[in-house]
Amino acid sequence: MGYFRDYEQKSVNEELSMSLREDTMILVTGAKGFAGHKIMEMCGNTVAAPSLRNASQEEIKRIIDGSDPDVIIHTAAISDMGACQADPDASYYANVQIPVFIAKASKGRKLICFSSDQVYNGCGEEGPYREDTGKPGNIYAEHKFEMEQRVLEINPDAVMLRAEWMYDYYLKKSNYFMNILNAKERVSFSSGQFRGITYLKEVAENMEKVITLPGGIYNFGSETTKSMYDITQEFIALLGKKVKVEDIPAGHNLWMNCDKAKKYGVTFRTVMDGLIQCAEDYNLIEIQNR
Ligand SMILES: NC(=O)c1ccc[n+]([C@@H]2O[C@H](COP(=O)([O-])OP(=O)(O)OC[C@H]3O[C@@H](n4cnc5c(N)ncnc54)[C@H](OP(=O)(O)O)[C@@H]3O)[C@@H](O)[C@H]2O)c1
Repeated sequence: MGYFRDYEQKSVNEELSMSLREDTMILVTGAKGFAGHKIMEMCGNTVAAPSLRNASQEEIKRIIDGSDPDVIIHTAAISDMGACQADPDASYYANVQIPVFIAKASKGRKLICFSSDQVYNGCGEEGPYREDTGKPGNIYAEHKFEMEQRVLEINPDAVMLRAEWMYDYYLKKSNYFMNILNAKERVSFSSGQFRGITYLKEVAENMEKVITLPGGIYNFGSETTKSMYDITQEFIALLGKKVKVEDIPAGHNLWMNCDKAKKYGVTFRTVMDGLIQCAEDYNLIEIQNR
């Protein structure tokens, strides 16, 4: 049986994947959250960390030492940008301080932290952006950006994933896929806005390779050359829905170049192919409709 359930693709980088043992144990924070629950569902040998809300350095050290994982996948965060904007202190504690505590307690273990493509949301250039840039334009993005630097200073072997807006057929959290499925009359996107969005299943599938990445920052998700307006037009047509797509003025781009992770075999379908795969997985379209 493969190390990861439902994951049969052979590793592109044999040498790196050799370092992953069958008994590698993974501690997942935010295990009941959107990304965390899928990682728990799809990856082998996972253990759920208890809630880390307001946790102290000592509590976090006790959790990590007590569970003794080889790998920590840290997904817990305040991921709602509005909530971060409304309460910057809470955002700082959750999105910077807790990862710093984890980094300090993670020496000798592989640490994977979820950052965000929002670190590019203040960039003036159009993109696609590479990892050596970044210009946060709000509190959430500022804190994710600081988190990356602080964690890497403490644990240079840690992996920071600049994740895109993720989607799935999932009812507990608003996401692009559900927004389109539930749309009634019209949705609004811009023909001038380019950004990646990522099928959550592919995020979990990629964890096997992510664990073997050298320490650093990685853009992480699906790429596209199509605008959000074009993607949405195409997806709505594919679903056979009668919903109008309104073209609105462009917000900032969150368009990433993901070549760095690709070199290590961390690959995703294109945005459109990811959406099609998700719709097929949930029997919302049939292959012959394509
Ligand atoms: N969702 C996206 O599309 C997206 C896009 C880019 C980046 N990200 C990043 O990816 C990671 C996972 O996102 P997600 O959507 O799975 O997150 P989520 O579901 O909103 O939250 C994950 C978990 O974080 C914990 N949490 C909530 N408030 C907290 C606080 N104040 N202090 C500590 N922990 C707290 C909760 O676990 P407990 O209830 O157990 O405390 C929650 O289940 C996050 O770092 C997020 O910033 C997400």
